[in-house]
Amino acid sequence: MNNFRKELKLPFKRIEVAHILVAVILLFNALVFTEHQTAFIIQIVLGILILLHHIDDNILKDSIIKYIDKLNENNNYQETLTESNHNAIIAINKNQEILTFNKKAEIIFGFTKDEMIGKKNLNLIIPEYFIEHNGETSSFQADDTTHELTGKRKNGDVFPIRISFGINNKSTIFIANISDITNEKEAEDEQNRLVKEIENTQIEVISTLGTAIESRDKSTKYHVDRVSLYSKKLALLYGLDEEEAEKMKLASPLHDIGKIIIPDHILNKPGALTKDEFEIIKSHAQAGYDILRRSEREILQMGAIIAYQHHEKWDGTGYPQKLKGENIHIYGRITAIADVFDALSTPRIYKKAWKSDKVRAVLIEERGKAFDPVLLDLFIENYDEFLEIKNSLL
Ligand SMILES: [Fe+2]
Ligand SMILES: [Fe+2]
Repeated sequence: MNNFRKELKLPFKRIEVAHILVAVILLFNALVFTEHQTAFIIQIVLGILILLHHIDDNILKDSIIKYIDKLNENNNYQETLTESNHNAIIAINKNQEILTFNKKAEIIFGFTKDEMIGKKNLNLIIPEYFIEHNGETSSFQADDTTHELTGKRKNGDVFPIRISFGINNKSTIFIANISDITNEKEAEDEQNRLVKEIENTQIEVISTLGTAIESRDKSTKYHVDRVSLYSKKLALLYGLDEEEAEKMKLASPLHDIGKIIIPDHILNKPGALTKDEFEIIKSHAQAGYDILRRSEREILQMGAIIAYQHHEKWDGTGYPQKLKGENIHIYGRITAIADVFDALSTPRIYKKAWKSDKVRAVLIEERGKAFDPVLLDLFIENYDEFLEIKNSLL
């Protein structure tokens, strides 16, 4: 060891000064500076020390240079990582000055590095990053979650971005990782459009089916459309939520779909039906159920229940199953009132339209007999509104 020191021909003092300086800088690196800043400072100090002949110890010089190389390597590695990132990487310090603005950020936002680095320009590209609070502007609270905000390009175009923040506690630098999600959102919109298209197609097919059935029954123009609207309204009055009530609106036009199996001469017979003919008419409830029950679609399943139970009566004297009270599904109970109200208040091939007071009296008479008393009360309380629906679709 002594030989080694002799060979160096260096006073310990000078080496110690250099050691202490580097140690202090390293300490600052750990506490305050970024590695990049540390490497820069060490290079300056080293240069000064060499100039002042404080260091002619090659071993110490080598070790310091190796340390700088390592830091530079690390910085290069980080820079490569930042530059090659598929997302925009923007680092800002606590004064909201931009420190890093990678290539992808240039592409996404249309600003160059020169226009952004060292400037407080983040509000130009992510206006939502700054929040007005009690008249003061503060920055968006960075946290571990991902946010969907609006980005702004240099040309003024706005577009959706997904942003997540990383926080370097040591240097209070925020690193924002930003992706342009315009394509993703467009794909999502297209997906939603397709889903909506399918839903609309279903609705149209169901409605067309209801109308096709209706068209065979020559005296019931708009009958299914009106039943559909009464059913939704009564469902809402009863307390079903908007979504379920809307589904009732879509499904109730199918209530008479089973009439497809009823021969024309019975369906459109002007006079009274014989007992056998009436039995044939009654079979439309079971037939409708059989047509719809195999479907897994929610609205068609609802339609199956309605087709099956819309002629059941609260007191158990209806058909086809003679269900009683709440054993009849709420969909069936609702459509039953809607169907009878419409049948009485509009003309049929075998009768004229009844006056609205007479219809109301008959409905009240059937309270607790044909109809659920709770539903019937709701219907009567809002009778004028149901009449309005009827008059709007004659
Ligand atoms: Fe029916
Ligand atoms: Fe009907």
